[in-house]
Amino acid sequence: MCAAPASIAVFEFLDSTHREIQAQIRQLHALVDAIESRGLNTATREQARRVLDYFNGEARQHHLDEEKHIFPALLGSQDAEIVQATEHLIQDHGWLEENWIQIAPSLEAATSGNLWFDTVELRHALDVFEALYTDHLLLEESVAYPEAKKRLAGLNTIGMGREMAKRRALKSDEARARR
Ligand SMILES: [Fe+2]
Ligand SMILES: [Fe+2]
Repeated sequence: MCAAPASIAVFEFLDSTHREIQAQIRQLHALVDAIESRGLNTATREQARRVLDYFNGEARQHHLDEEKHIFPALLGSQDAEIVQATEHLIQDHGWLEENWIQIAPSLEAATSGNLWFDTVELRHALDVFEALYTDHLLLEESVAYPEAKKRLAGLNTIGMGREMAKRRALKSDEARARR
C-alpha cells in the first residue's frame, strides 16, 4: 500500500529538482546581467555563492540520484530506444559536468570580489550549459521518468527516497561547514 505513494514522492522530488535547476539557471543569467551592469558588490557576491553551492551540491546529487536509482532500471529495458536514451542521458551528465567546470571558476572568483573573468565568455558558457540542460531535462521528463515510473511502480521506493534525502542532508551540512 505504501509503495505507490512513495514512488510518486520520489518522482515529485525529481521533478521539483528540475524546476529548481531551471530557476538556478535563470538566477545565473540575472547574476551575469548584474555583474555586467554594476560589477561586483555584496549582493552579487552572495548570489554567486548561492548558485555555486547549488550546482556543486544539489545538481550533482540529482545526477547521482538518477544514475543510482533511475537509470539502472532503464538500461535493463528490452526497448532499444529506452536504452539508447538512457545512455544519452548518462553521457549528458558528463557533458554538463564539463560545462559546469567552465563556469564555476568565474563564480568562485566573483564570490571573493575578483573580476578577472570575461563576462562575455561566461555568458557563452552559460548559454551552452542552459541549452544542454534544457534538452536533458526534456528527454528525462518525456522518456526516462515515465518509463522508470512504470518499472518502479510495483517496488517499494521508500528506501530510495530516504537515501536521496539523506545524501542531500549530508551535502548541505558540508556546504554549511565550508562557509
Ligand atoms: Fe539527469
Ligand atoms: Fe534530472
